[in-house]
Amino acid sequence: MDTRSPPAATVSTLPTEILEALERRIADGKIEFPSMPDVASQVVSATFDEDCDLSRIERIVQRDPHLTAQLLKMVNSALYAPATPVTALKQALAIVGMTRVRDIALLVSCESRVFQIEGFELELAQLLEHAKTTAVYAREVARAAGGVDLDESFCAGLLHDVGRAILIQTIVDLRVIVGVKLRRKIELEPRAVLDAARARHEVVGAGLLASWELPDRLVQAVRGHHDPASAEEDCRPLATTLRVADDLAHAFVDEGTVTAAAEIGLDDGRVTALAERRVEIEGIVREL
Ligand SMILES: [Fe+2]
Ligand SMILES: [Fe+2]
Repeated sequence: MDTRSPPAATVSTLPTEILEALERRIADGKIEFPSMPDVASQVVSATFDEDCDLSRIERIVQRDPHLTAQLLKMVNSALYAPATPVTALKQALAIVGMTRVRDIALLVSCESRVFQIEGFELELAQLLEHAKTTAVYAREVARAAGGVDLDESFCAGLLHDVGRAILIQTIVDLRVIVGVKLRRKIELEPRAVLDAARARHEVVGAGLLASWELPDRLVQAVRGHHDPASAEEDCRPLATTLRVADDLAHAFVDEGTVTAAAEIGLDDGRVTALAERRVEIEGIVREL
């Protein structure tokens, strides 16, 4: 799924009443954000606590069978390839470590609370796939560049376009609200919804991350992922990593990608080498 603006001739538009209502909601900061599931929220905040240990994480995770199952699925996948199947939560946690547990908690939260919109199942599945691909690429970009945290990059990649899903949900909700007000059924063209959900998705996504109380650096990097130069200096390398990973995930490397990559010390050849690892990256994404 392309995040760039399509040529003007192919742009579909929403009914004016919906567009105006959407604009107002964004301008007034009245976009509704879903809450993070309780257990996932506790896992995420615990992993950002420097004093936290794995036994505390285990006590939290074991209260959520779905999260436990996802963790065991990942630890038994080709990503970790254990010699014998892992069935105990404690052992799984010891293998994946604290930051990966946080990624799984965020992934499960996004899958259950953000990427579930009736009538847009295919589009949301594509968006989630893009998020995972960007996450894996972001970690590889960070590894190649040095100086940017690998786990933080993965986490930011996973969440970078979450604002688009939030905006699709907002438009779907507004269709009902505005329809009741006007006393007529409003039809939405899926293409028009997707196009409208591009506008300011970075700001809306950053708003969701802030409402989930994620670290400010992640919030700022997601806000600046299409324009890293606009990010505050200490968040700029992470925002730039996202910008490059996003392009690689779209299999769209151009002059802008190369210029951004140079900002984090990656030359043209290293960007090409990353682009050529696409099949390997897709294999990792399938296991997530
Ligand atoms: Fe984006
Ligand atoms: Fe993206």
